[in-house]
Amino acid sequence: MNLSIIGTGYVGLVTGACFAEVGHRVVCVDNDAAKVRTLQAGGIPIYEPGLEELVARNRDAGRLTFTTHTAEGVEQSDVVFIAVPTPPLPDGSVDLSYLEKVAREIAAAMTRYKIVVDKSTVPVKTGDKVAETIKRYGKAKVDFDVVSNPEFLREGFAVEDLMRPDRIVIGVRSPRPVAALKQIYAPFDAPIIVTDINSAELIKHASNSFLALKISYVNALSVVCEATGANIQEVANGMGMDARIGRRFLQASLGFGGSCFPKDLSAFIKIAEQVGYDFRLLKEVQRINADQMERFVKKITDTLWVLKDKTIGVLGLAFKQNTDDIRMSPALELCHRLQKEGAALRVHDPKAMEKARAVLKDVTFVADMNAVAEGCDALVIATEWEEFKQLDLERVRRSLTHPILFDGRNLFDLAEMERLGFIYKSIGR
Ligand code: UDX
Repeated sequence: MNLSIIGTGYVGLVTGACFAEVGHRVVCVDNDAAKVRTLQAGGIPIYEPGLEELVARNRDAGRLTFTTHTAEGVEQSDVVFIAVPTPPLPDGSVDLSYLEKVAREIAAAMTRYKIVVDKSTVPVKTGDKVAETIKRYGKAKVDFDVVSNPEFLREGFAVEDLMRPDRIVIGVRSPRPVAALKQIYAPFDAPIIVTDINSAELIKHASNSFLALKISYVNALSVVCEATGANIQEVANGMGMDARIGRRFLQASLGFGGSCFPKDLSAFIKIAEQVGYDFRLLKEVQRINADQMERFVKKITDTLWVLKDKTIGVLGLAFKQNTDDIRMSPALELCHRLQKEGAALRVHDPKAMEKARAVLKDVTFVADMNAVAEGCDALVIATEWEEFKQLDLERVRRSLTHPILFDGRNLFDLAEMERLGFIYKSIGR
């Protein structure tokens, strides 16, 4: 089918590339001319495993094109996907101005029936507003349908999640666009659920909030584990084997971050407030997450006492593994906290150092993860990169002035760390 995607960020670009991969013709639109030029010239603006090859293959095959003109995308497609940012406003609610602007642009460019699909994460009832806007600003007064089709991809696994989704949610106001959406998703071999548009919009906020709740639950448990001598990983394993609970998203950590969970939680709390419900459960999820960072910083200061004039190595800057994204990264927050206490930092991240340079000042960026610990008073693991498990721990121990390792991601085995002679402090163990 002929598709366009307005917004070429994580969701838009990966979605566009995956749609092209299964044979659709896709025009990706972005108002950032530099980004569009990069993509047209064969470059890629973000790091995401598998994406570069996917984009190159489909661009070369002529199925994936890029433009800065919304009208061009709309003209060349039957179905227009919106994947623009919906960032938080200072009060926690969602800034829908990008979405509204794009809805107006689409309206102005429509000359025949279009299906307009919202992929951005939006508050329930936004679909109604998009429909009103298109109706109001449509010049040609042609027919259209608005659909909600939330995206559930995880950064770092975005291509995999898109090619093999757990489910596709299609929220509609009438049955008319359903067949086209089913045709678009037929090659993905995933269950499709068709709902009303409000439910589809709610499914996204409800899912992300629930996953965040799962993490805060396990992080709260980690505090009880530490106080009682239990081991959070064993507790999570034991719980996770119950199919009703599941082991995923029960990884205790120094807290969740990223561009989705913190923002979606605040937005969902606000949405609930606006309809008269005080979602205290989710407020507690936020509080536990903030406390988790406090507790980790305290663990470091309790052990090292004064941080002023001490050097700390930090492994991990991205908000999670397999990405160069540092938005709302707990690792970066930790770096800032340690700097505030007066510590000098030596840092490393496999992919996020370039982006981190813009926001992390007066630190030493170290290219080799095994060299970070050199001359440091302690080493901290802040992001769950798989390759950190391959650290040369003998060398790290020899490099540190004292063999102290704080692990905010529980990457190493307790007995092994003891055998190697580390003072090893992790989460909930
Ligand atoms: C999330 C949702 O998973 C995805 O479905 C949605 O579309 C967008 O938001 P993402 O933000 O890319 O995806 O990352 P995710 O893998 O969910 O991790 C979010 C944060 O939680 C990271 O900081 C991660 O380190 C942390 N996390 C995750 C934990 O601390 N413990 C866990 O068990 C899982």
